[in-house]
Amino acid sequence: MTHQSYFENYIISNSKLDLNKKRFLPKILVFEVVKIQKFLIERYYAKYEFSTPFMLSSSDAESFTVDEILGLDGEQNKERNLKALLKFRLSYTESQGDPLLREEIAKLYSNLKKEQIMVFTGAEEGIFTFMNGILSENDHIIVQFPCYQSSYAIAKANRIDIDFWEMNEEANWKPDITKLKSLVRENTRAIIINTPNNPTGYNFTEAELDHIIDICRKNDLILFSDEVYRLGEYSNQTRLQNAADLYENAISLGVLSKPIGLPGLRIGWIAAQNPELLNKLQIMKDYTTICNSGPSEFLATIALRNVDTLIKRNLDIIQKNLGLLTDFFNKYSQLFQWTKPEAGTIGFVKIFFSDDVDGFCLDLIEKKGVLLLPSTTYNYGTQHFRIGFGRKNFPTALSLFEEYVVENLL
Ligand SMILES: Cc1ncc(COP(=O)(O)O)c(C=O)c1O
Repeated sequence: MTHQSYFENYIISNSKLDLNKKRFLPKILVFEVVKIQKFLIERYYAKYEFSTPFMLSSSDAESFTVDEILGLDGEQNKERNLKALLKFRLSYTESQGDPLLREEIAKLYSNLKKEQIMVFTGAEEGIFTFMNGILSENDHIIVQFPCYQSSYAIAKANRIDIDFWEMNEEANWKPDITKLKSLVRENTRAIIINTPNNPTGYNFTEAELDHIIDICRKNDLILFSDEVYRLGEYSNQTRLQNAADLYENAISLGVLSKPIGLPGLRIGWIAAQNPELLNKLQIMKDYTTICNSGPSEFLATIALRNVDTLIKRNLDIIQKNLGLLTDFFNKYSQLFQWTKPEAGTIGFVKIFFSDDVDGFCLDLIEKKGVLLLPSTTYNYGTQHFRIGFGRKNFPTALSLFEEYVVENLL
């Protein structure tokens, strides 16, 4: 969309013009009104997350307190960390991200240096910046589906052509690489993947990721690889290398929010080898947040220095919860179809007892105060829900869910 048409759209969509009168506008002003779609998950959570006692669908693992983060370098250094935080000057920070923080982030990659890392306010800003700063109208992108809505909604609002690369539940969410090849067009600019995946928990195999990179390389495509659930693999053997380490035109998206359990810091990042891509992101970031929150960067640096400790605590919780959940779904297999995830904090479950998942989720909130996330918020039909198992209070929430099942579904 040109700047001019964007501006005109803005005027039309925001004015109180009587629709019938629009036909009297000069022709150049009559455009289809383009507005970004509502972010369905966020609106659903805005309504229920803070008023429902038991969150049973969160994608972030158990979080940590500021006190716990300050103590990660050992008791003897806690005082020093606290003093440094209290003395922290609340000025603007380096737009690309604090160099010390970028150094810690770069350690998560095999081949990248801090110059190839850019810090954002959450992974969400990274996605927004990519979609607006690198893609243009008339580009075509291919998006793995089901997926997090911002993987396509921002592009759609910018009139970028989108094809969905659908994963098949009956194949345990395994991808069809031949299908992906067939979706590539003349004007394809990027493939958007998310592994480990939200909502299915599927993690590509090394061979699958290699095939995807091969398709990108042959067709000169950007690979936007959302890796926000990385480090949450249940076995080290299934941990993939970051796409940005493997492919010169890949963008790897990371964040502290998910298995690491620090969503409140709002610290995410993009890693990429290609300086041209990083430069375009930088140009766009000057129009979003300019720079990140300094205290968050300070705490994030301590957290990443100790990332193994944080991940270990949360993987212990996740593994325990996953054991309970597997027993639960084995017990009620006549009601639910459960494909066990390979990483992360969430899974996507099919229901056999109803084709109205919205009604079921609302009834569960009302009767037991337990919050699942219906698949309608993923534009993925009416027979699935997302369940989250990264929190300490999961056993209590699951037993309330079981009470509901016994009282209402058997
Ligand atoms: C796949 C995926 N990407 C990006 C994000 C955004 O992460 P954050 O909320 O930390 O910005 C999320 C959050 O749920 C996600 O699931």
